Amino acid sequence: MLMSELSERYARDGFVVLERFVEPAACSALMAAADSIVRAFRPGPEAVSVFTTHEQSRHTDDYFLGSGDQIRCFFEEDAIASDGVLRVPIERAINKIGHALHDLDPAFAAFSRRRELAALVAELGMGQPLLVQSMYIFKQPQIGGEVMPHQDHTFLWTDPPSVLGLWFALEDATIENGCMWALPGSHALPARKRFHRLPGGGAGFEVLDEAALPTAGMVPLEAPAGTCIVLHGLLVHRSGANRSPRSRQAYSIHLIEGTAHYRADNWLQRGPQLPLRGFE
Ligand code: FE2
Repeated sequence: MLMSELSERYARDGFVVLERFVEPAACSALMAAADSIVRAFRPGPEAVSVFTTHEQSRHTDDYFLGSGDQIRCFFEEDAIASDGVLRVPIERAINKIGHALHDLDPAFAAFSRRRELAALVAELGMGQPLLVQSMYIFKQPQIGGEVMPHQDHTFLWTDPPSVLGLWFALEDATIENGCMWALPGSHALPARKRFHRLPGGGAGFEVLDEAALPTAGMVPLEAPAGTCIVLHGLLVHRSGANRSPRSRQAYSIHLIEGTAHYRADNWLQRGPQLPLRGFE
């Protein structure tokens, strides 16, 4: 794709799908690195933190809120029985790993600062990109949970809005195994909610507009392994549950503009030992 076409599509749709962006060996290397992290994971009681985007059950415990400058594993909701016992082996039980893989794990750090990523982000207009968040998403076979429609800006709020997502399919993502869906042009909408830390502890949503996000007209972004999907921070997107026998592993990075103001009560915070960095 020509760079001019890339910018045009991003401005028009709020997303761009770039097939064959990453070579198969790089996808395999990230999958192996994620597998090592999970196999070394020894969950304590504080780690039984289930990730879900259903607001009523979103765990906003210390384990989640303290993960901005850590590598932490979050369980799939359906992996844990009502008595708290795992129903599947641990390597099939993790929903995601977050949120500082890109700074703390050598394999993810190298991948996240590839030159072609810096070039892509510069082409899309970011002047001083900072890598604020990374996530490894397993979308496990049979129990992979859905991600409800949302705007990433809700979770990584800056003034003005600046968050941009890079989502990499490490395995083929199809409708069947829970690919991404997006509403073309919805990045023109204002943010509906802001997820932030509460003064008394925990975190919650500030509702800015009661209207539900529109979802009619969402299109599936089926993506062969190696695809990079660029997502505007205000784009309405979601992903389906995975009831198929195949996982749909993906890695995502979120960037913010260094000149924008990152709010002090955003849920994701870092300690002074790990300041945000760009591509250098
Ligand atoms: Fe998202």
